[in-house]
Amino acid sequence: MKYYHLQNHEDYKAAYKASIESPEAFWEQIASTHFVWKKKWDSVLNWDFTKPEVKWFEGAKLNITENCIDRHLEQRANKTAILFEPNEPNEPAQHISYTELHERVCKFANVLLQQGIKKGDRVCLYLPMIPELAVSVLACARIGAVHSVVFAGFSAKALATRINDCDCKLVITSDGAFRGNKTIHLKEIVDNALESCPNVHKVLVAKRTQSHVHLKQGRDFWLQPLLDQASKDCAAVSMNAEDPLFILYTSGSTGIPKGMVHTTAGYMVYTAYTFKNVFQYTEDDVYWCTADIGWITGHSYIVYGPLANGATTVLFEGVPSYPDYGRFWQLVEKHQVTQFYTAPTAIRALAKEDIAHVTQNDLSSLKVLGTVGEPINEEAWHWYNEHIGNKNCPIVDTWWQTETGGIMISPIPNSTKRIIPTFATLPLPGIQPVLMNEEGEVMSDSPASGKLCIAFPWPGMARTIWGNHERYKATYFSTFKNHYFTGDGAFRNKAGYYRITGRVDDVIIVSGHNLGTAPIEDAIDEHPDVTESAVVGVPHDIKGNALYGFVSLKNKAKSEETLEKEINELITQHVGPIAKLQTIQFTDGLPKTRSGKIMRRILRKIAQGTTDDLGDISTLLNPEVVAAIKENAKRS
Ligand code: WTA
Repeated sequence: MKYYHLQNHEDYKAAYKASIESPEAFWEQIASTHFVWKKKWDSVLNWDFTKPEVKWFEGAKLNITENCIDRHLEQRANKTAILFEPNEPNEPAQHISYTELHERVCKFANVLLQQGIKKGDRVCLYLPMIPELAVSVLACARIGAVHSVVFAGFSAKALATRINDCDCKLVITSDGAFRGNKTIHLKEIVDNALESCPNVHKVLVAKRTQSHVHLKQGRDFWLQPLLDQASKDCAAVSMNAEDPLFILYTSGSTGIPKGMVHTTAGYMVYTAYTFKNVFQYTEDDVYWCTADIGWITGHSYIVYGPLANGATTVLFEGVPSYPDYGRFWQLVEKHQVTQFYTAPTAIRALAKEDIAHVTQNDLSSLKVLGTVGEPINEEAWHWYNEHIGNKNCPIVDTWWQTETGGIMISPIPNSTKRIIPTFATLPLPGIQPVLMNEEGEVMSDSPASGKLCIAFPWPGMARTIWGNHERYKATYFSTFKNHYFTGDGAFRNKAGYYRITGRVDDVIIVSGHNLGTAPIEDAIDEHPDVTESAVVGVPHDIKGNALYGFVSLKNKAKSEETLEKEINELITQHVGPIAKLQTIQFTDGLPKTRSGKIMRRILRKIAQGTTDDLGDISTLLNPEVVAAIKENAKRS
């Protein structure tokens, strides 16, 4: 049987069984039949979770852009690869064909080569959602440069941390970004960041907003004139299967963000395979994922997965609320979108608006709806199902992570027998999830609730954290022996369906964005009047979670209102506006263990108003602070 395209429940069952019984043969069949290789592998999989070391398709040589672009030129030369929809509704959409994409990527790759970028060099991309972002991702891959895309909502400090951590040589940015009715001056942010990035010698600037920018002589160059002069032929560099393709930062419980390293062959095979099946993409479909390419969802399911399947992928520059709350649905009708993939936070926000924004548009082109990034609540699920899907489109609630590279647990339309709201349902072929109890034992019976781990490697998994393999091991492979630990909790019902219940560590997901508490607290602690702080998540109707900060002060001279403003300003500068606190409670002290660790568990309960059971607080170093904090808790 052929496993690449699962079309019904029997296909899924057979594929899943084969993927568990003989994983190497399973992935080998997929890899050999659906991709172009410069040289095939010597071995399919070598792995050892104790080191940890995972290698897929070792010995193989390939270039992912040949798989995403060149090989489609014969049959899909004029097919739209990227359908760019600008922020302003009256600016025309751009249909970038596979032929044009090929030309643009080759030219861009030649510009990078001229600027001295070589295979293995890191290049930072800090761009709005414009075609140059997808093109520059692919241009890096063409020449073997490792791209590190930083979401253009991060601040200068956050950008600098990411540039320095992986020692990027070159930055690609734009004069500015349009987001709804705002213009953001990206180049200025880059200029600020680069004051603390001594190793960046070149900056390429795309023109988008026509904002005035300062070009530093010898360092900064307008992109377009360089592209105009570049040749449209550029040979695709031969990459080893395990050569790094990109680095993408994700928040951790502590410390600076983790630069997750994804390698070439396994990532390509896994994103292509999961895209094809989860979205059931067929040749004339128009697929739209509303994520930003600055996140893993955009990497895997705007760029690589769709293009590896020769798909038409929509790239939308704007926001769901501009010029009004009907924008998503207008675009679904305008481009006859067939698969639509978004975050629960967007669904919740749009469901609150006048339903006429939806009903004014013809959404009958839709076949599959998807969600990602956070648990979806039942109400939002039903609204999506009824009003957007007309009860006619399977909803794929896809669970995965920056670290997993691609979707891990999700319904497959036509194959998953029954889709239950709020359940990510069943593992995709090749994925072996397990639940662990507090004692670190595998829970084999169902129903069960535990910590979600994966017992066996899959091709799309991140291989390490850039420059810090020990941290990779400590974060993902040390909590449970011989298992990858996801950091999520999950429930499994009798039928074996998984529901993701949320993070079990200090990562907080706000509007679908992962935020680590450490960098936010570091920003708050920069304030001269602050002694220390702790940030926790509280449930929020639209964002899923909002941030609640407990801040202890050494100096109470200023009004609380002024302090709140100053603290949020610091957070905006150090992390970005997405990390602003919704609520700030000033305290005289924070509850601590005898070893001096802040007891977030207690603070979380106080912030969430569930103080009936605070557990045993008598072992705290300073139990007396708890009563006062409880009494002054703020309800929003
Ligand atoms: C959460 C996003 C519930 C989860 C692709 C995970 C989800 C984290 C779902 C990774 C889902 C993602 N249901 N929770 N369908 N999808 N999550 O790295 O906590 O930005 O660990 O990757 O988002 O977020 P990341």
